[in-house]
Amino acid sequence: MSIAERDTLIKKWLSEIKDYIIDQKDSNLDVEQKTADNDLVTRMDKSIEEQLVNKIREAFPGEKIVGEEGFGDEVNSLDGTVWFIDPIDGTLNFVMQQENFAVMIGVYVDGIGQLGYIYDITHDKLYSSTKGDGVRCNGQPIAKPADLSLSKGLIASSSALMCKDKYPAVRTVGAESLGVRMLGSAGLESIEVAKGNVSAYIASNLKPWDIAPGLLFMEELGMIGTQFNSKPIDLLNNNNIVFATKNAHKDIIDILGE
Ligand code: IPD
Ligand code: CA
Ligand code: CA
Repeated sequence: MSIAERDTLIKKWLSEIKDYIIDQKDSNLDVEQKTADNDLVTRMDKSIEEQLVNKIREAFPGEKIVGEEGFGDEVNSLDGTVWFIDPIDGTLNFVMQQENFAVMIGVYVDGIGQLGYIYDITHDKLYSSTKGDGVRCNGQPIAKPADLSLSKGLIASSSALMCKDKYPAVRTVGAESLGVRMLGSAGLESIEVAKGNVSAYIASNLKPWDIAPGLLFMEELGMIGTQFNSKPIDLLNNNNIVFATKNAHKDIIDILGE
């Protein structure tokens, strides 16, 4: 199947998932705690991942799947085709706000991003990329953002990173910027960088499914995604990440100084 045909099929699946979420979101979500009061999972997270994994296994048997809720495979190498699925990114928002969450899919071949999707369901905005074609919102190309330095732009971050003491240099990064914004969804924050609403997103301990589509978006827009120490992002492990314009990325890495 060509990349374009895969893109069409994945968009059809995402449209079905959107209808499912809209239909079900006011029903009992069966909210459960995972590791803490603010680390939740609902029956919708599980069901969406299961639905997507079943569709992938049927259409692309043998391809590897990395999924947050455990329906995928144990993946120890990026060789071949690897799917990354975050069924609901921003589950805490989904439970508390019923908005500001996204369904995310990334497809990588031999570690190179090929297809990426971040679907802001409540605003019906599907951000997508096929390698080499830039980033689109509902099919319309997004303009490459201006290459702002840290001091000339806003940044996005996670409350876990900004409010806890583990990386105090991060607050210097915030102080050097025009201001810090937090949405509570790594996917939607990646979109904020892609659209140029902020010139960087910095976050700690993100999982491969939080990062995979957004990293492809950065590459497609001539922006940069690395770890805090400026090493390449490792999609087999958790990462502390900086997604940014080239100029802001340089400024941020200088401050983080790892
Ligand atoms: C979380 C969100 C959040 C980020 C966390 C993620 P989830 O994803 O993206 O913004 O700060 O690190 O785990 O658990 O809602 O899919
Ligand atoms: Ca997530
Ligand atoms: Ca999730």
